[in-house]
Amino acid sequence: MREFKIYEPEVLFDMKTGKFTSDKTVSSKKLLKDLVHVFQDEKARLLMNQDQVVYDVDCYFPVKEGKNGGLFWGVTRINPGKVGNEYFMTRGHFHAQIDTAEFYWGIEGEGVLIYMDQDGNSWGEYMRPNSLHYIAGCIAHRVANVGDVPLVFGACWPSDAGHDYDTISKNGFSARLKEENGIPTLVKE
Ligand code: PA5
Ligand code: MN
Repeated sequence: MREFKIYEPEVLFDMKTGKFTSDKTVSSKKLLKDLVHVFQDEKARLLMNQDQVVYDVDCYFPVKEGKNGGLFWGVTRINPGKVGNEYFMTRGHFHAQIDTAEFYWGIEGEGVLIYMDQDGNSWGEYMRPNSLHYIAGCIAHRVANVGDVPLVFGACWPSDAGHDYDTISKNGFSARLKEENGIPTLVKE
């Protein structure tokens, strides 16, 4: 006999704060000591408190990583701060399945989403509450917090996209987001 049940959702997600209510989510953190050679001024990074959290990510993975046709959902929170004159930011990556896209959207705070194509062209887009960003396939992406409060943004990406961090750790982005005369500026590497 067929059953026609209505279930409670396994995850609650607050669109205004980016907070989840569920034990089905996975959290990870990046401290300053985890971000060796991510920022240009390695000396300045080493002089700072290494246990400081630069960013954390909460993710909901409803299917297995690598599954074709599924989706993942995550929220990143980047603390305000700078290493030298470079804003706190995520490591940044291409997707391992390079031609897979992603949505980001701003929830709280102010930032810049930095894009780079495979020819090394970089550009930025301001991120603020309600901004929506389509990251096309084959484009590396990272986010910097340019404000005085945590920057919170959401992400939704294909479960078979994966993350390629190696290309960025070898070659970097072609531009870095620095504070110049009080203004966030993309500076050629
Ligand atoms: O899937 C994404 O693009 C995001 O959820 C990022 O993984 C997150 O913002 C952290 O950045 P990174 O993966 O570059 O450390
Ligand atoms: Mn991504």
